[in-house]
Amino acid sequence: MSTALQGKNILLGITGGIASYKSAILARRLIDAGADVRVVMTQGAQAFITPLTFQALTGNPVHTDLLDPAAEAAMGHIELARWADYVLIAPATANVMARLANGLADDLLTTCCLATDAPLAIAPAMNRLMWSNAATQANLATLEARGTTIIGPGAGEQACGEVGAGRMSEPETIRDALAAAIASTANTSAPNHNSSKELQGKSFVITAGPTEEAIDPVRFISNRSSGKMGFALAAAAQQMGADVTLIAGPVALDTPAHVKRIDVKTADEMLENALKAVNNTDVFIAVAAVADYKVAKFSREKIKKTDDELTLELVRNPDILKTVAALEHRPFCVGFAAETENLEKNAQSKLKKKKLDMIAANQVGQQNNPVFGSDTNSLSVYWGNNKHQIAPAAKFDVAQQLLKLIANQITLNK
Ligand code: PMT
Repeated sequence: MSTALQGKNILLGITGGIASYKSAILARRLIDAGADVRVVMTQGAQAFITPLTFQALTGNPVHTDLLDPAAEAAMGHIELARWADYVLIAPATANVMARLANGLADDLLTTCCLATDAPLAIAPAMNRLMWSNAATQANLATLEARGTTIIGPGAGEQACGEVGAGRMSEPETIRDALAAAIASTANTSAPNHNSSKELQGKSFVITAGPTEEAIDPVRFISNRSSGKMGFALAAAAQQMGADVTLIAGPVALDTPAHVKRIDVKTADEMLENALKAVNNTDVFIAVAAVADYKVAKFSREKIKKTDDELTLELVRNPDILKTVAALEHRPFCVGFAAETENLEKNAQSKLKKKKLDMIAANQVGQQNNPVFGSDTNSLSVYWGNNKHQIAPAAKFDVAQQLLKLIANQITLNK
């Protein structure tokens, strides 16, 4: 896990949305990462979840009122604002975004935001139409221009029953994005800026997740990839300024903010979309765990259990990465290798066989970290005669470190 949150004072603002139930888990995750968390709740938030929950979770009194003499005597809004190393608002409603964009200070949370010089991060959560509304998008642009870190929102089914963008990111995603923002603030020593933009102007295509190869209408061949590593790379590349297209197999993950996502099921669909997307792209990263085989003949009817044994004829799927790497005008090609043994030997062999520019190998299947589905990873990265070790960390942090290596190489290769 990233150490960026260790010892940091995080002022967690909670506004009135159904997603505020996830903020309880978020508070826990921030504390687990070593942060000291103090919570400010708006009136709206208290309609969804009680201050007592956060008091119990953080061990600190929860602040709710700007004009509460007792609370002000203990730690008033100015002290809170001074205390914070980072202000994080999750969920951030359309209303609080509008108030922040306009510099209002009509409750404790917005007053703290005005009275602090700590950087601000928000995790928006709202109905999809409220999110796409021109007013919200203008407020978002204002906040971004001021250096606010925007985390999410994700897309998917919403509490209101609609489907679209506006779902608050998952607590772990918010924690990792905040840690990354803190780390990049420390690296650039630019106190009010969200991340370094060393991939500005670059375009990335990233594959992620498993593929699903149907056997019959109810069965398929797939694997254990959750998509987390590929999505972390997409989010990190976008935050570093890149224009990112993410080609995702079937996974249950939110789309990282400002990333173009193309959903596919099979290796054939992934290849077709990758070939369309890589035209004029700078970097292609194949993180997907593509099923190597599919059935020779898909059965339109459910296969019946007639005998004790069943033999399926399998044929090879296309190799997406190898195909892209063989293009005449190819992007910088980065592969992943998931190995259970002989990590370096197998990774080096894939680097050569597929004619890649770089390969990132991860040791999978170990009991303490299977990599598949977990929130952390570590990588051994090989290119030319070079190698670099990325130590175990949150997948988002690992992604950032890999992207820095890629950024160096594409600059050198120019
Ligand atoms: O999704 P997570 O749960 O976060 O897990 C992450 C991960 C373990 C899936 C990821 O880190 C990883 O290692 N991905 C590569 C998985 C793999 O098994 O690769 P491979 O050794 O089969 O293939 C080597 C490379 O060729 C990969 O970049 C792969 O995307 C690509 N490939 C492979 C086969 C194929 N038909 N087409 C391809 O593009």
